[in-house]
Amino acid sequence: MESLGLVNGKLIDLNKNVVPMEDRGHQFGDGVYEVVKVYNGKCFALKPHLERLYRSLRAIRIPATYTFEELIRFHELLIEKSGIVEGAIYLQITRGTAVRTHNFPTQVVPCLTMSIRPAGAANTQLWEHGAKIILIPDERWLRCDIKSLNLLGNILGKQQAKEAGCYEGVMVRDQHVTEGTSSNFFVVKDDVIWTYPATHLILKGITRTIVLEQLVKELGITILEKPFTVNFVKGASEAFLSGTSTEIMPITTIDGAPVGDGLVGPITRSVQTAYTRLIDEECGRK
Ligand code: PDD
Repeated sequence: MESLGLVNGKLIDLNKNVVPMEDRGHQFGDGVYEVVKVYNGKCFALKPHLERLYRSLRAIRIPATYTFEELIRFHELLIEKSGIVEGAIYLQITRGTAVRTHNFPTQVVPCLTMSIRPAGAANTQLWEHGAKIILIPDERWLRCDIKSLNLLGNILGKQQAKEAGCYEGVMVRDQHVTEGTSSNFFVVKDDVIWTYPATHLILKGITRTIVLEQLVKELGITILEKPFTVNFVKGASEAFLSGTSTEIMPITTIDGAPVGDGLVGPITRSVQTAYTRLIDEECGRK
């Protein structure tokens, strides 16, 4: 199957128009979302994604109307009924449908929509040889820690990167390099990995947490969560991105200049290999 949808627990054809026009996600971007990868017919790191979903819901005061177990079941149902083995599941919850007014409506039921689509190894060449990025101003709001549907700053930045022939736009706020438009950002200098701290100015990525709390420890590499400047980045020996779809993406060019010697660095490669191994183990791949 090409794709499959699910609305409030019911499976649907993704081409069916089932969400009302006055859904607040549609009108205000009033909702939150998650993206989970499926490898070998199994969700990777589903639990931390769902925990973050509940945190995002609490942050914008949308009541949680589905339990953890129900959401896990919906993910499994989409995999089973679509037959998709390598894919991505998108989930969003909006505040629900009401006559358009900025205030929260009373007695409104949140709306859950999900979809599954195939996602192969689209980035194989880039994972192997590295990607180009550009640095762009971070023009987003101040609660980037919430995985909100409001992504204008992110999509404008991603498009700017694409038009510059780059894989990602990495954002700069108050002279500090924060994160990519849909990924977290890391640099390596003097064998130490640096990444922006998990404040309200970045999304605390699930992949980032896996890198920090699991992979880097296993590999015995030092990692610092500290702000760093554009100049610091320009002097780095390696750089990489992390994200659910991005996985571990080496960066070999920043603003047209090579990172270090312009080749994928050894620390980046070791983190990437460890991440792939973790997916293989958790999802029983290969
Ligand atoms: N993006 N930072 C931003 C701004 C993101 O949008 C994402 C994820 C990440 C990485 O988070 P994680 O490791 O949990 O995927 C960091 C998703 C995949 C998206 O918008 O499609």
